Amino acid sequence: MILGKSNGPSYAGTPNMSASKMEVYLEQAKLRLGFVKSRVFRRIATIVVSFSLILVAIILTARLTNVGEVLPKVLGSFLPKIPTCASQNQSGEQDVWKKAEAKYKGLMSDKFTIAMQTYQRPKELNDTLKAILSEDVPSLHEVVIVWNDLETKPPANFVSKFGVPVRYRVSKHNSLNEKLWPDPDYKTQAILLSDDDVYYHPKDLEFVFQSWRKFGQHRLVGALARCATVDAYGNWAYTFCSSKVEEDIYDMILTNLCFSHISFLDYYSSNTTTMNAIRDYVDEGFNCEDIALNYVQSLLTGDGPLLVQGREKYVNFVPSKGISTKKGHMAARSRCLNDFAKMFQCMPLVDETAHIQKGVLVM
Ligand SMILES: *[C@@H]1O[C@H](CO)[C@@H](O)[C@H](O)[C@H]1NC(C)=O
Ligand SMILES: *[C@@H]1O[C@H](CO)[C@@H](O)[C@H](O)[C@H]1NC(C)=O
Ligand SMILES: *[C@@H]1O[C@H](CO)[C@@H](O)[C@H](O)[C@H]1NC(C)=O
Repeated sequence: MILGKSNGPSYAGTPNMSASKMEVYLEQAKLRLGFVKSRVFRRIATIVVSFSLILVAIILTARLTNVGEVLPKVLGSFLPKIPTCASQNQSGEQDVWKKAEAKYKGLMSDKFTIAMQTYQRPKELNDTLKAILSEDVPSLHEVVIVWNDLETKPPANFVSKFGVPVRYRVSKHNSLNEKLWPDPDYKTQAILLSDDDVYYHPKDLEFVFQSWRKFGQHRLVGALARCATVDAYGNWAYTFCSSKVEEDIYDMILTNLCFSHISFLDYYSSNTTTMNAIRDYVDEGFNCEDIALNYVQSLLTGDGPLLVQGREKYVNFVPSKGISTKKGHMAARSRCLNDFAKMFQCMPLVDETAHIQKGVLVM
């Protein structure tokens, strides 16, 4: 085979190509090569290849792992459907609250009243009363039994051996709102809301009250914390809280053992459109008055609640994780969280990270 000879390089396999045609061909080839080598081309190629690789990685990860379940959770946790009241500058009807605060300024601030709700559980009531009245609690002014059993006549009022009067108050109707009613006969600003099956040891009760005075007059102060967290769909979910390092917060205190300033009870019972609707909701479901009071307190003050323990653990006849852990119960409580947030038009609860416990840490 004869290789063509010209001033350009010889090209094998095209012996019949004329010299000028060959030159044009070579020029075009050089141009193409130039483009392939150009910076723009390389950048485009890099982007296209990277995108493809990322896409493949995402598809593979989604197929092979449960990221499909985790992803909405991650997104959901940043996107509650109902925004917090703080982010909306909502703090409720402050005029109603200011009036309530002014109304009770004259009540004693260095004593407290126990408002204990009971319904057809004379044994528990008796045991609880016996326990808390058995020792001197210097600041305990009065015990009011909120008697919700309208069929049965309550026992007679009496005075304990330490001089604490015990008064049975028959409710207007069997309603959970009755415990949260600001009785005009109360003589103290501090009300310890409680049920007949749970109490602080008398020695600790005075300590918890003094903690309320020092740290918690604008908060709910009590024994059992609960949590509202955002679920995978951006809804609020009711939980027992978690002490995992990355969580370690709470935003509600149950009102089965909880100090409240009487002005929060006044707001809860006030004749405003929202509170009327909330109380009706509580009566319809016979549930969630405690969640509603937590909403009221955090809405008005912008503060979270405060968990306080005595030296010993509080006493609870019914284990807190007994009937209340049932799935239906948790779902109903979660529904209350979301329905109340809609009614308040924002989520008022505020996270708290610390609690108070009686005693010293000797290091
Ligand atoms: C809330 O109030 C702050 C300061 O008064 C203001 O900067 C912010 O825009 C307000 N946010 C909303 C949602 O109104
Ligand atoms: C409580 O116990 C006492 C005896 O310790 C008894 O006399 C009283 O009737 C009991 N009350 C109720 C409501 O059970
Ligand atoms: C509640 O307010 C409405 C009007 O705002 C009034 O008509 C009604 O009498 C009030 N109810 C009570 C119990 O005060």
